[in-house]
Amino acid sequence: MQANIEMVKALLDPGRKVVVLTGAGVSAESGVPTFRGQDGLWKTHRAEDLARPDAFAARPELVWEFYNWRRTLVAGCEPGPAHLALAAMERLIPNFLLITQNVDGLHGQAGSRKLVEMHGSLWQVRCTVCTHAREDRSALPPLPECPVCGHLLRPGVVWFGEPLTPGVLRLAVAQLRDVDVFLSVGTSGLVQPAASFHQLARDHGAVTVEINAEPTPSTGLMDFALHGPAGVILPEMVPGTAS
Ligand code: OAD
Repeated sequence: MQANIEMVKALLDPGRKVVVLTGAGVSAESGVPTFRGQDGLWKTHRAEDLARPDAFAARPELVWEFYNWRRTLVAGCEPGPAHLALAAMERLIPNFLLITQNVDGLHGQAGSRKLVEMHGSLWQVRCTVCTHAREDRSALPPLPECPVCGHLLRPGVVWFGEPLTPGVLRLAVAQLRDVDVFLSVGTSGLVQPAASFHQLARDHGAVTVEINAEPTPSTGLMDFALHGPAGVILPEMVPGTAS
């Protein structure tokens, strides 16, 4: 049902356990393009067509060009009011977890610590052959090589069709089986397994809330929905963060 901010704010009691799932919409106001729609186009390519292992196998230089473009773009972005409000929410609610599908690192930059980056990070690179992995914020060459074995490096993100990092799904499921309030923020709810999190939480008794710029396929399945910019709605819910 359509809610007002006060109704949802009242749910965010420090005695409750709160899990928040975020997607690209929380970073839109920081200038990071979302994945779908016109925004998701890079040159003539859809982001979804490049974030895939088969695309990387076929045209690694093109996929690396896309990721190097995204890294440069995101390096110039700052956390926005939605990121800052979620970091403040974590400080107010002892039993809190933030699960993000975003790879831009902006939640961590905003101060979120109880954070799971379920699709990895733009700032991680790893070898396609050996176990080498590292954080790297530098400008990378068009086809970066592993310093250990010389093979090609790849972005440390989860691509379509790839499994999540071991343990991430287990942690998320365990948390969602025991949560009082579940917020889904700035995600189209089209990509599994994150798209099922609200249902899992609801099946285990949680109140579920969608905060998104527009209705999504999940809207009708949520207890409450608030539609508008996350950077306006979230600060209104967290004392001391509205401008
Ligand atoms: P999408 O681009 O699919 O959806 C972003 C959602 O945010 C849309 O529903 C927008 O309406 C909404 N939105 C845009 N601006 C907003 C704002 N200011 N405030 C609130 N909402 C806003 O992105 P995700 O749902 O994050 O995965 O996509 C999920 C996954 O699909 C991504 O992590 C990525 C992807 O392709 C992989 O790469 C594996």
